[in-house]
Amino acid sequence: MKTALITGFTSGIGKATVKSLLTEYEMILVCRNKEKGINTINEFLSYTPHAKLHLFVADLSSIKEVNALCSNIKAQFSKLDLLINNAGLFIPQKQLSADGYELTLATNHLSAFQLTNALVPILINAKESRIINVASEAHKIAKLDWNDMNLTNQFSGIRAYANSKLYNIMFTYKLAEQLKDSQVTVNAMHPGGVNTNFGKNVTGFTGFLFNQLGFLMRTPEKGAETIIWLATSNNIKGVTGKYFKDKKAISSLAASYNQDNLNKLWALSQEMINNILTS
Ligand SMILES: NC(=O)c1ccc[n+]([C@@H]2O[C@H](COP(=O)([O-])OP(=O)(O)OC[C@H]3O[C@@H](n4cnc5c(N)ncnc54)[C@H](OP(=O)(O)O)[C@@H]3O)[C@@H](O)[C@H]2O)c1
Repeated sequence: MKTALITGFTSGIGKATVKSLLTEYEMILVCRNKEKGINTINEFLSYTPHAKLHLFVADLSSIKEVNALCSNIKAQFSKLDLLINNAGLFIPQKQLSADGYELTLATNHLSAFQLTNALVPILINAKESRIINVASEAHKIAKLDWNDMNLTNQFSGIRAYANSKLYNIMFTYKLAEQLKDSQVTVNAMHPGGVNTNFGKNVTGFTGFLFNQLGFLMRTPEKGAETIIWLATSNNIKGVTGKYFKDKKAISSLAASYNQDNLNKLWALSQEMINNILTS
């Protein structure tokens, strides 16, 4: 049986994705709240009693927790066929992670960067493994500033979120280039506007949009469709370094194709991780 890891399976798109994959994959399920994780797993087992599910707990906004998580996973699993970086958040007010970085940047980008890089060895051990990064069309309103990735001077929740989703796509492109001689593919995707817990804690006008307009949005099952297709379809075999929406490759922001930007993002992300791990 193949092995898959997904982050953020306790609600929304991640939960819907697991429901579809758990008969085909032995699943490594990563969440930050153990009780919520156990309850969600019990729900999965109530309709698929023989599913092989492994719970791992880590707050992904902490790089030290991400590293401990990866060490535990690598101690128990020698190969990984599928990695879905799905966990993410939107916060309207500036908050810092335990490591001192802006929380959206830490949760949505730095964690996926570090988790994926740490797991590349066991992804390479699997035959034809796939990485899927859940990004967003919101990346198209991102404004890059390599001197202020932490948004120290000019924070807005929307900008932090848009930038983090642009980083998800740029990381995808750079990693695909680095893994081009391996059997590992890496793609990013946009799930659509999906009615999940996403943004439900937000107040004000943005909160109104998230909380009241859910009926206009996709169901989590619909939002998960392109992830499941990228994970399982033979049509996508060998395809790497692309960005998808509704099972079609689409263009991302022009800045995301610029090699200098890709190199800069990689170097600055690695520098932040090194700062955290040596502090
Ligand atoms: N909904 C949309 O319209 C939409 C559109 C484009 C892209 N996306 C992307 O889709 C992905 C999934 O979002 P969703 O809409 O399904 O939202 P959601 O229902 O809020 O689910 C987010 C998941 O991420 C987990 N998570 C958040 N912070 C975490 C942390 N620090 N450590 C570990 N897990 C953490 C949450 O855990 P808890 O249950 O503990 O909170 C939850 O399981 C995100 O990357 C989001 O950016 C969503």
